[in-house]
Amino acid sequence: MHIHVVNHPLVQHKLSLLRAAEISTNKFRMLTDELARLLAYEATRDLPLEPVTIDGWCGPVDVQQIKGKKMTVVPILRAGIGMLNGVLDLVPSAKISVVGLARNEETLQPEPYFEKFVGDLDDRLALIIDPMLATGGSLVATIDMLKRKGCKEIKAIVMVAAPEGVKLVNEAHPDVQIYAASLDSHLNEHGYIIPGLGDAGDKIFGTR
Ligand code: PRP
Ligand code: URA
Repeated sequence: MHIHVVNHPLVQHKLSLLRAAEISTNKFRMLTDELARLLAYEATRDLPLEPVTIDGWCGPVDVQQIKGKKMTVVPILRAGIGMLNGVLDLVPSAKISVVGLARNEETLQPEPYFEKFVGDLDDRLALIIDPMLATGGSLVATIDMLKRKGCKEIKAIVMVAAPEGVKLVNEAHPDVQIYAASLDSHLNEHGYIIPGLGDAGDKIFGTR
């Protein structure tokens, strides 16, 4: 499976706090933001570097800089917005592409309602962000859209993944690496991740 579960103690501790049933909107939002930052740190670990010589205080210095890799962060609306600031803290110059998908509560199929991509997708690494990877339908649909627009390199960051969703994404897009704080047990009959977090979008936006 192309899933990297980030076992860093800070990630696991913050995830444990997120799972509390009675968590406030404010706390859920704060922890989502912090987790997004830590997961983005892991997901960008293998960005290529190149040697560069700069003018340092005592003359030329050989340093390493990220090799011209441009990025687009792709939040899946709504819940992905909750992870956006955390990721942008690490890659402040990244352009943002937005995908709006709502999962139909009966069919569990993602229904697209918005898309706005940056122009030069063929030249960028896309970093999709969404707190929950459940059936995988939303992530597969987003990757399909990005690839149709010419995007060649895609990674996904989620807080919690279900094995069913990871399997679907791996089968449809084996080239896409997924970074998660947890690979949970399974989906329940309503397509919710168990133990999961409940409805992450509702908790981030305070609409539950
Ligand atoms: C949730 C979640 C993912 C999707 C995951 O969003 O944020 O986008 O469901 O489910 P899947 O893997 O089965 O497709 P939802 O559609 O509930 O919308 P929201 O972000 O507006 O709350
Ligand atoms: N969307 C969520 O917000 N939570 C789940 O468990 C599944 C889909």
